[in-house]
This record gives sequence, C-alpha cells and structure tokens, in this order.
Amino acid sequence: MVRYFSIILTLLVVLIVSIAGLRGCKTKRPPIEIFPDMVRQDKVKSQVPSDFFADGRGNRQPVVGTVPLGYAAPSSSKMSSADGSDSVMGGAYNAVIFSGSEGYADTGKVGTNWGTGIPFPVTKETLERGHDRYEIQCAVCHGSTGTGNGIATKYGLVGVANLQQQRLRDMTDGEIYNTVANGKNTMLGYGGVIQVPDRWAIVAYVRALQRSQNATLNDVPDAERASFQPTNAPVTTPAPSKP
Ligand code: HEC
Repeated sequence: MVRYFSIILTLLVVLIVSIAGLRGCKTKRPPIEIFPDMVRQDKVKSQVPSDFFADGRGNRQPVVGTVPLGYAAPSSSKMSSADGSDSVMGGAYNAVIFSGSEGYADTGKVGTNWGTGIPFPVTKETLERGHDRYEIQCAVCHGSTGTGNGIATKYGLVGVANLQQQRLRDMTDGEIYNTVANGKNTMLGYGGVIQVPDRWAIVAYVRALQRSQNATLNDVPDAERASFQPTNAPVTTPAPSKP
C-alpha cells in the first residue's frame, strides 16, 4: 500500500515539477503549444518578404486599372448624377488630379498644416451637388441646417456636432474636408463612399449653410435688398371682427 502510494507520489512530483517547476527558466525554444489552433498560418503579411512569389516580395502591385478609393475611373472626366445626366460637377474632376497624392486637393493639407479654399472653381452646380450629397450623407446626423439635430439624434445618437458653432465657422476648409474623408473622434470617415470632388462640394455647401444661418443684410445683393428692408410700420393687429 505504502509502496503504491510512494510510486504515485513520485510520479506526481515529477509531473508537477516538469510542468510548473521550470517556469522562470529562460529558453530560446518556442513554448509548448497544446492547442496551436491558428497561431501559425501560411499567409502574406504586409511589408514582409515572402518566398511564395517569384520576386520574393509579399506586397503585390495593384491590378492594372485599379481605382484608388475616392476617385472615379480616369476615363470618366465627368460625374454623372443620380438621374444619369452628365457633367454635374463640370470640370471638377479634371481639377482634382487622379493620383491619391499628398497635395492639398487630396489631403486638405498644405505641407503639415490645414489649407483653406476649394481646389476648383465653385459654381452653382458645385453647391447643388454639395447640397445633394450633404442631404444624403450628412443631414441624417447634422440636420438640414447643420445644427446637429438630424433624424438620428431623435433615435438617441448623442454628441453630433453643430456645424453652425463659431469654432467650425472658423475652421479651415482643409480640416473639414479631412473630417468628411477620415472622420473625427466619434464620427466615422465617409471617404470610402464620397469621391474627392464631392467631398469638396460638400465642404463648399457646409460653408453656404454656415453663411445662410449667419447672414446680414449686407450679404443680399443691392438689387434685391429693398425687398428685405425691415418695415418700420407698427405691427397692427386686425380688430376682432364682430359676429
Ligand atoms: C452618423 C452620424 C454622422 C454623419 C452621417 C456625419 N457626421 Fe459629422 N459628426 C458626427 C458626430 C457625432 C460628430 C462629433 C464628433 C466628436 O467630436 O466627437 C461630428 C462632427 C463633425 C464635424 C466637426 C469636427 C470637429 O472638428 O469638431 C464636422 C465638420 C462634420 N461632422 C461634418 C460632417 C459632414 C460634412 C458630414 C457628411 C459628409 C458628416 N459630418 C456626416 C456625426 C455624423
């Protein structure tokens, strides 16, 4: 009886020491993997050489004709609208170089600072296009006037920025462009669904929205100003009609 007990005890001690006793020892050998699962796989990691391809590079060149995110295919110099008619953005596509470059039109930055200005001439069509895109992509959260009261806030979305606040009025166009493309804090980026010229058209429209909620009589063209003059006539309430 004692014999069996001492044998079992010895085996147990050996077992415990062999599993736990060597903890703290340093070894260059890989750890014992009881369930390796998918720890090691045949896969290509970015920026890492691979002997799978003949040229020894893991990274592959994009397929010829690949269109970077945010651009139309180079052949279409125009933007077609939802109803299929061409030229909604006029020459905007030609102005925004098809490159995915580090330039202002692509990044909103001049060097390391945010730049300002729309990188192509803003026409009525640009603003209409911006309005159209804003209503689709932004108004759900920011509201049609940009005050941050879009329909999503009625369903509990909190923290939507009011685009009419002074800080965002003073913000450069480039930084707003970047927010549209890449998002900011809790707002996701929309670069994947809004092409570069449309992002700028939206920025132009946001500027128009900000003006619209902060306009004075001086913003009205001379010719039309008369129709906006406040009347000094006292407000008269019509006498209640006697039955
Ligand atoms: C799903 C809701 C949602 C949509 C859609 C959305 N935004 Fe936002 N946006 C937010 C929220 C939330 C914030 C506040 C982010 C923060 O500061 O935490 C914000 C912030 C901003 C800001 C301020 C960023 C800053 O620097 O403080 C700008 C400008 C802006 N959005 C523009 C846009 C434009 C333009 C669009 C359309 C392309 C758009 N947003 C679409 C939710 C949204």
